[in-house]
Amino acid sequence: MKGTDYGKSDYTPIKQRHLRRIVRARMSKVAYLIAKGSVPEGYLYFDLHAGPGIDDVGDWGSPKIILEEARAHDVIVEAHLFEQNAQTALRLRRVVQPYDRYGDYSLVQAVDGGDWCAACPGYSRCDSGSCESAFTTVEVHAARCEDDLLRRLNFLSDERDLDRAYGLMYVDPTGGMPWKTVHDAIASLPHVDLLINMGGSIDGRVRTSTGREMRVTDYLDLCRKRRWYVRRPIGKHLWTMVLGTNDTGIVKIPRYVGMEEMTGPKGQWYMAKIGYSNNERRQADFEFSGQLPLF
Ligand SMILES: C[S@@+](CC[C@H](N)C(=O)[O-])C[C@H]1O[C@@H](n2cnc3c(N)ncnc32)[C@H](O)[C@@H]1O
Repeated sequence: MKGTDYGKSDYTPIKQRHLRRIVRARMSKVAYLIAKGSVPEGYLYFDLHAGPGIDDVGDWGSPKIILEEARAHDVIVEAHLFEQNAQTALRLRRVVQPYDRYGDYSLVQAVDGGDWCAACPGYSRCDSGSCESAFTTVEVHAARCEDDLLRRLNFLSDERDLDRAYGLMYVDPTGGMPWKTVHDAIASLPHVDLLINMGGSIDGRVRTSTGREMRVTDYLDLCRKRRWYVRRPIGKHLWTMVLGTNDTGIVKIPRYVGMEEMTGPKGQWYMAKIGYSNNERRQADFEFSGQLPLF
């Protein structure tokens, strides 16, 4: 598969499948907690590298996957999608408009055959133009997440109690990881899970070329999540998914996509592959003694 400007590759279908499985399982738990009243409505979703929403051959991108899963579970979402490329952000806006309470209603009706409530197009169950129920909102920020996310969080903290909000922050860069932005942002969101899709070798290249000392595990330590899961790195870029959460009830979900607890023997092995080059692992072998062989 040829690479594209929004980063599609042979690995993309696996990534999207795993994203969908994790989110599906998570949404059903969140829907249950909201119905019980133990979690406030309005699942927060931050997509730091949102892409076009639907690619040239019609495959869904992360924002559409998540918004569809939320709709299927009747979970109301407040989505903040960051996309640095202005053209891509425009495409994305059209894709997500049907989910947004404040979207362009005429476009919504044209796309969906007029089945949507004029007041809250994200919810087909609602058929009155004066609907006052809570609604999904989707904002596309045509900006680098590094420049805009913390500012948005500041605004948000004036409107709602971020300490109690449930949600997901999804980080899926084409190049290096925006580590500082991620840990500054997620540290103030105790119930927002952090899901990272990253290439271990890409982060390693950035680390060596910039002389950076901190490794993946050092950054994750700053994110204040109690439980971490990691999937086996795939291919020459060592593509992996890392999930951080403070929810003790999440244990089974990462297993659906073959994730391992980071503190377990396999998880430590995967992290060593992601965080250290072959040479570095050989030299640091003693640090991992007692664990599975590193190669
Ligand atoms: C790998 S694609 C993301 C795909 C998307 N998450 C999905 O699964 O459909 C990366 C996208 O992030 C955008 N991007 C790259 N760096 C960014 C940054 N610092 N802030 C916001 N968007 C960025 C790129 O323009 C590209 O569209």
